[in-house]
Amino acid sequence: MQDFRDIIAEILIDEKTLQQRIKALGEQISQDYAGQDLLLICILRGGLVFMVDLMRKITVPHALDCMALTSYGVGARASSGNIRMSLDLQTNIENKNVLLVEDIVDSGYTLFHVLEMLQTRRPKTLKVCALLDKEERREISVPIHYRGFRIPNKFVFGYGLDLDEYYRNLPFVAVVDLEKYKSPALESVLNINKITGDKQR
Ligand code: PRP
Repeated sequence: MQDFRDIIAEILIDEKTLQQRIKALGEQISQDYAGQDLLLICILRGGLVFMVDLMRKITVPHALDCMALTSYGVGARASSGNIRMSLDLQTNIENKNVLLVEDIVDSGYTLFHVLEMLQTRRPKTLKVCALLDKEERREISVPIHYRGFRIPNKFVFGYGLDLDEYYRNLPFVAVVDLEKYKSPALESVLNINKITGDKQR
């Protein structure tokens, strides 16, 4: 994989700004759930880094669980309405205060399907905390009760968000320079086309 410094068009949200906002979100959540029990649900894998930082800023007692879904294919540049659940919760959420933790809401399909799925399990409350909201791209309306940042319609990575599964560890959110980034998935498609083209000649 390429060095991340070679594929950054701009740093959209730096580490300090991210951490300040996450602290504020943690404080707000702690206030809102004071005296109540809380279950945080991380939507893997993108939400992982945000979840780890956020939970350490939440001062009310809370439990943690994870679920995994997939909406993007490797190498894809946009989400689809195609949501697959690949890991279910270990916790019975009936009558619990549930807070979903997401890294980004894009088309809204992932969140829409998760909310629909979890509502059937009859939680006491079901709310959403999303770090990034790419509002311009929304195709289906979903509630976001705690929002980190509204961001423009740019292809972002870092702080949990991947580029072909890499770079999730970066402590900031950056915009990828698509002129410079060589997607392995895209490269292999181009190579296949090249081979097929060669054979035809
Ligand atoms: C990303 C992100 C959200 C979803 C948002 O997950 O973490 O779950 O896409 O897109 P949507 O609003 O258009 O549905 P992704 O499927 O890329 O998996 P990942 O979290 O494992 O990277």
